[in-house]
Amino acid sequence: MGSLMKIVVLLYVTSAVLCTPFINQLQPGQEWPTRSSVKQPKPDESQKVTDGVVKETEDAIEVDKAPEAISELKVTPEKKVDYSGCQVWKVTTTHTGAKKVISQLASEKLISSWGGNHSTVDVLVKPKVIENVTSVLNSKNIPYDIVIEDLQQVINEENPPLDENEIELQDRRGHRMTWKQYHRVEDIHGFMDYLAKTYPSLVSVNTIGKSVEGRDLKVLRISDGKPTNKAIFIDGGIHAREWISPAVVTYFINQFAENFDVESDDIKNIDWYFLPVVNPDGYEYTHTTDRLWRKNRRRYSVCVGTDLNRNFGYHWGGKGASNSPCRDIYRGAAAFSEPESKAIADFVGSIATKFSAYLTYHSYGQYLLYPWGYDNVVPPDYKELQAVGEQIAGAIKKTGGSSYSVGSSSGLLYPASGGSDDWAKSQGIKYSYTIELSDTGRYGFVLPASKIEPVARENLAGLRVLAHQVCKE
Ligand code: ARG
Ligand code: ZN
Repeated sequence: MGSLMKIVVLLYVTSAVLCTPFINQLQPGQEWPTRSSVKQPKPDESQKVTDGVVKETEDAIEVDKAPEAISELKVTPEKKVDYSGCQVWKVTTTHTGAKKVISQLASEKLISSWGGNHSTVDVLVKPKVIENVTSVLNSKNIPYDIVIEDLQQVINEENPPLDENEIELQDRRGHRMTWKQYHRVEDIHGFMDYLAKTYPSLVSVNTIGKSVEGRDLKVLRISDGKPTNKAIFIDGGIHAREWISPAVVTYFINQFAENFDVESDDIKNIDWYFLPVVNPDGYEYTHTTDRLWRKNRRRYSVCVGTDLNRNFGYHWGGKGASNSPCRDIYRGAAAFSEPESKAIADFVGSIATKFSAYLTYHSYGQYLLYPWGYDNVVPPDYKELQAVGEQIAGAIKKTGGSSYSVGSSSGLLYPASGGSDDWAKSQGIKYSYTIELSDTGRYGFVLPASKIEPVARENLAGLRVLAHQVCKE
């Protein structure tokens, strides 16, 4: 190579590196938001924290003080919570008094709930109390199945390393994202930036805020810019341990960005906004320390984390949310006290009248849930939400065979207030759904990575139905 050539190449490379943030990386407030500019939430806004200690009013805190998931479990030298010997049981709760027994056991910290519906609940049972809980359930004639014999073993096998072919492919593609493995935030964000760089006239990335620990909240937009386009907002990873959710959301991104030219008119006639990892701090924590962490990572006195799906400002603090920072369903110090929920509200709110749909992906249970979640009531247009939900479920079933139940979230599951879906609906976004992905409890949160592609593929079929509905309105 001639020396002039070398200089040209060097200049090109340095400018590419240095200028990367400016290549289709929107600054907040720039270009997309049409109504008002996106405000950057200050991490500690509206949070009464003094030296890391939350000032608690006497009546604000429940009696329990111990963290829910990890108390009494061993932490290995590299500080990972060890779930060896822990089991997951599916308990039938249809007998009279069964639900009471379960909540009693939970309040005594003998078990912790993984989720459930009207007839069953999945609970995690720690090794030390297996005998004890067994005899309680037997004496009350409450039936149960052991679904996971050893949770740590399932965790160990959940996310196997990529084979050599895949690693080689990764290196050639320009990003590390695959749908054969669950990836770290760095890979997910790297993939989003790669798409923005590769398809600058179609894809753009915007940081709409920062997490409690200062990680980016990255939204990726896919749009051909037609002024007649509808708009849909999709997020994932509100709950840290629900790994299938960011995996599925990034699968959608990949499908639409890489194949936009040959996509259907429905897909092309929508401005798509994706926030695949709402809770990056919690998500990283599930990779490094505790696989079953749910909340964000805000530090309180003894306990850590707010449940972001109890922190939104519509009927905040109502049913199914706790005022104790030690609980997994802690609502936070105030509505939108957390930068992660605040960023969504500021961003979605800034262009609310433009969004036709808000989808938030969770796991698990295979449910398509519409508002309201705060109590057992439904919005005036619930029949349409039910009908479209059933069409989505039909497409999922036809494509991949999984059965999704459709209903209002309070009716089908339980009341839980402060959810993002309720807030979106309250802002006038018609099709607001929480989608609880696979499975129905065989693996629960620790769904093997080999399931990512089938789960994503069938849910892409469901998403196409929603896109069609939005476009024809
Ligand atoms: N499993 C979800 C949660 O508990 C369901 C949320 C449904 N929506 C609602 N607003 N309750 O967060
Ligand atoms: Zn969830």
